Amino acid sequence: MPWVKVVKTSEVADGEIKPFDLEGKKIAIARVGGEFFAIDDTCTHAQCSLGEGSLIDYEVECPCHGSRFDMTDGSVRILPATVPIKTYKLKVEGDDILVEITKDA
Ligand code: FES
Repeated sequence: MPWVKVVKTSEVADGEIKPFDLEGKKIAIARVGGEFFAIDDTCTHAQCSLGEGSLIDYEVECPCHGSRFDMTDGSVRILPATVPIKTYKLKVEGDDILVEITKDA
């Protein structure tokens, strides 16, 4: 699976993060200002949906236990999670957001 169309840019508001299911693979798309980010939806702490969490600038806060991840590189900013979250390459073509899903991802 190379580049996969996920959603229209107009469907993700500034400061919003949403979960999506791509053929069984769960990812979350976030928008900060004019920038979009794609990360794994599943929190590395106890598998809650980060797409159901909230954004604080470039960080996403997990709704379950408050871990925070930096969406620019996936690093952990606040415990209890200790394992970084996977990030995905994302591009915008016209109104479409596309995410690169590699075979081993
Ligand atoms: S599941 Fe995300 S912080 Fe616990």
